[in-house]
Amino acid sequence: MNILIIGSGGREHAFARQIMQSDKCKSLFVAPGNAGTASIANNLNLAVDDFKGIEKAILEHDINMVVVGPELPLVKGITNYIKGKNNLKHVKVIGPDKKAAQLEGSKAFAKDFMERYNIPTAAYKAFTKETVDQGEAFLETLHAPYVLKADGLAAGKGVLIIDSLAQAKKEFRAMLMEEMFGEASNTVVIEEFLTGIELSVFVLTDGENYKILPNAKDYKRIGEGDTGLNTGGMGAISPVPFATDELIKKVEDRIVKPTIKGIQEENMDFVGFIFLGLMINDAGDPYMIEYNVRMGDPESEVVLPRIQTDLVEMFEASASHRLNEIEVKIDTQSAATVMLVSGGYPTDYEKGKLIEGIDSVRDSIVYHAGTILKDGDVLTNGGRVIAVTSLADTFQEAIKKSYQNVDKITFDRMYYRSDIGTDLL
Ligand code: AMP
Ligand code: GLY
Repeated sequence: MNILIIGSGGREHAFARQIMQSDKCKSLFVAPGNAGTASIANNLNLAVDDFKGIEKAILEHDINMVVVGPELPLVKGITNYIKGKNNLKHVKVIGPDKKAAQLEGSKAFAKDFMERYNIPTAAYKAFTKETVDQGEAFLETLHAPYVLKADGLAAGKGVLIIDSLAQAKKEFRAMLMEEMFGEASNTVVIEEFLTGIELSVFVLTDGENYKILPNAKDYKRIGEGDTGLNTGGMGAISPVPFATDELIKKVEDRIVKPTIKGIQEENMDFVGFIFLGLMINDAGDPYMIEYNVRMGDPESEVVLPRIQTDLVEMFEASASHRLNEIEVKIDTQSAATVMLVSGGYPTDYEKGKLIEGIDSVRDSIVYHAGTILKDGDVLTNGGRVIAVTSLADTFQEAIKKSYQNVDKITFDRMYYRSDIGTDLL
C-alpha cells in the first residue's frame, strides 16, 4: 500500500525507516519531511495542518494509510477530516479523533477524564478568568512547589513549577489575565506537586485492544545535569532500568486498562499511540502526569528501533480493530539516542548550516530531525537537528556508541548534552 506520514522530525524519520522495511509498503510519502526522509521516501511540501492539501495528496498519490506524527493536526481534527470525506473513506488513519486528542489538547479535559476513571494523578482544579480569585485561594491551600499548567497546547512551555506562593499567584494571574500563553492559558490547571522519578510508557491501541510498547526516559532540559530551559528532548534511553515488570504491571492495571475503558465509554475513536507521562513515587506507585496522543520525540528514536514486528502490520491490525491478533516482538537490546541541536536552541538559533560527517557514522542510526536537502547538501533547518541512536546489550554501551559517532558529525555551533543516561548509572 501507499503510506503518508505527517510530520518532519526525528520521530517521523524513525517511522519512515521502519515502514520502508515492510514488504507491505509500496510507496512512502512524508509531509513535509526532512533531508533524512527525502533520502528514503518522497517528501511533500505541505504543512501538517493543511488538511485540504493533505486530502489532495492522498488522492493524487493513491494513499491507503496516513500515520500522524505530531499532536497539532490531531488536536485540530485531521482524523475526523479524513474519515468524514466520502472520497477518503478507504484511508486508514493512525491517530485518534479530535475528541480523544483532547486528552493531550486540554489538560483540564485530561484531568477530568483521569478523575472519572479513577486513574491515579495529582490533585487539581481548573480555573478561568471568572474564577481567578478562587484559584488564588486554592493555591493557598497547597504546599510549595506550585504547579501551574496552561490548558491548551503550548509547545511544551505551558507548565510552570514555582517555589514561592507570591510568585505562583502572580504567574497564575498573568497566565489567565494577560494570556501569557495566548488562548492556551484561557483555562489554567493548578495541581499538587508530585515527587519521584519520571517514566514514559507507550501504548498502541485500536480503541479496544492494546499493546504495551517499550518504555523510555527522555532528557528534557537543555543543560548538563538537567539544568536550564525545557526543550523538546535532548536524548532518550529505552528501556528504563528501573521499569521492572512489576512496575509495568501496575501501570497496565491502574492506568492503561482504565484509560481504554474511558476511551470506550466516551465513544472516542482512538486508533493510535497513547504516551503516558508518569511519575513513580518512592513507594513505586505510578501517577499520571499527562497524556500525549502520539509517539514522543526523541522517544520514538529509541522505542521504534526496538520493535521487531512489522510496523505496517501493527498499524493495519489497529485500524481494523484486531490488534489482539498481533504479537509485538521487542528487541531485548537497549537503545540510546543523543540529540544534536543548533547553538542557541531552545531560544533563538540560526538555520542553514552545512552538516558534515553523517556518512562516516558506523554502527549507529542517524535520524534526521531539523534538516533540509539543498543542492545535494544537508543543512540544518531547526532547533533539534539530528538524533544519533545506538543499540547494544546494555544502555551504557549504547550511549558510548552514540557518543563515538556524535564526534564524527559537525556543523557550526552544534551542541549536545554529554550526560545522557549518566543519572541512571
Ligand atoms: P508536561 O508538559 O505536563 O509534561 O509537564 C512538563 C514537566 O513538568 C513534566 O515532565 C514534569 O517534569 C513536570 N510536572 C508536570 N506536572 C507535575 C506535577 N504535578 N508534579 C511534579 N512535576 C510535574
Ligand atoms: N519528548 C517529549 C514529547 O515528545 O512530548
